[in-house]
Amino acid sequence: MADSDRPGPDHRRLWVVRRLSRAEIAAQAAEVLRANDRGSLTVAAPRLYPHMWSWDAAFIAVGLARISPSRALTELETLLAAQWGNGMVPHIVFSANAPLYEPGPDRWASQETSPHAPGHAATSGLIQPPVHASALLRILEAARGAGAAERRDVLARIRALWPRMLAWHRYLAERRDADGRGLLMIYHGWESGMDNSPRWDQPYADVVPDPDFRPFRRSDLAALGEQAQRPTDADYVKYQWLIEELRQARYDDELARKSLSFRVADVFASAIFAAANEDLARVGEALGLGAGDELLGYAARFRRGVLGTTDEDGFAADVDLRTDTTLRTKTLAGFAPLLAGGLDADRRRRLVALLHSPAWCGNPDLAYPLPPSTSPQASEFDVARYWRGPQWPPMNLLLIWGLERSGEHDAADRLREAALHQLTDGVFAEYYQPFTAHPLGSRPQSWTAAVALDLACHGLG
Ligand code: SER
Repeated sequence: MADSDRPGPDHRRLWVVRRLSRAEIAAQAAEVLRANDRGSLTVAAPRLYPHMWSWDAAFIAVGLARISPSRALTELETLLAAQWGNGMVPHIVFSANAPLYEPGPDRWASQETSPHAPGHAATSGLIQPPVHASALLRILEAARGAGAAERRDVLARIRALWPRMLAWHRYLAERRDADGRGLLMIYHGWESGMDNSPRWDQPYADVVPDPDFRPFRRSDLAALGEQAQRPTDADYVKYQWLIEELRQARYDDELARKSLSFRVADVFASAIFAAANEDLARVGEALGLGAGDELLGYAARFRRGVLGTTDEDGFAADVDLRTDTTLRTKTLAGFAPLLAGGLDADRRRRLVALLHSPAWCGNPDLAYPLPPSTSPQASEFDVARYWRGPQWPPMNLLLIWGLERSGEHDAADRLREAALHQLTDGVFAEYYQPFTAHPLGSRPQSWTAAVALDLACHGLG
């Protein structure tokens, strides 16, 4: 990175770059995805994340659908080929001969530890938010505009993938919401995808590694070289310890839900799941695959679960399930009801107004009116550190989808325009400094390129 690319010391200097046109964004984003393509999967980011990550793969598929629905579907097929016997879709599928990533396959030891782990693929033993069905619906829609041969091929392959998609949703509904409250239980901050978000500060305070636990060396700092943009070492010891606990529980949901020192109801993943169930039901209906009532039942249950956590503005909260404490933090996850739907019109308007307020997109210091991962008005806000402040392009896409689903088309259009504008720098960074628009984290990041491609192609048919 050139010195001129680095955030200024006061983090207030606006990053000035040449702006790409929409056609240039689409072309350059497609080139990033091509360069990160390893045949049957797209690496999340060649240096920092040299394998396949579950929710990255879903967003990558959304972007690839703009180029080739067939190749986009391959992404989901590769991920789901590593599905566990109990339906769990792992958050990392490891590739052989890729650069070092810690924790790698040996740390997870999933095949040696769980009878459910697939014998043919090395994977982690955690999940990530279930965006996959929403990606699948977009692949189906893109296939409708493809040539007859590709359309036939894609439809046949979606049918073949259907049992795995259904098993994934059943796993989540049955194993991660065993008491039916409509909220997904997670065992690790990584499962939320928002690793070090202030959402998890309180639950992590109760995660205390054994005194004789020896943390292993982090590979992320060497790959990125930017300590201030990543979770801290203190965070990482806990992340590693939870893997140890999970391994001791043999990746068994019955044991994990009783024994782990981190057990939280993730309201944002639950909202994603509510929408994903509706999307999967639509795929099933289009292809005559059934299970519609079951999936719409899950959608209703999780929508109710999300709404059950809201305050008077419709802003949602996570729940610490170990202590049954509601976790009200000023993070992006509070907008979960806009993803899940179901708010009455009055509270939906209030929540959209909050999104546009100075606490969020209307903050006068923002370079682009896009939601930071943590509100700049929150005491935990950190302008550069991963999920504690920076803006993340895929989150914009989730909100755009949700606003459209809720009939808030003006708000969706505003967000879409700003989200695309932010990406006209052509860097495709993992996340962005909200006040200066400096690209942060790894770059180019496949999911950002995929989101850019999707945004740039929107409305072009
Ligand atoms: N987000 C995690 C990381 O930083 C992995 O799931 O590696």
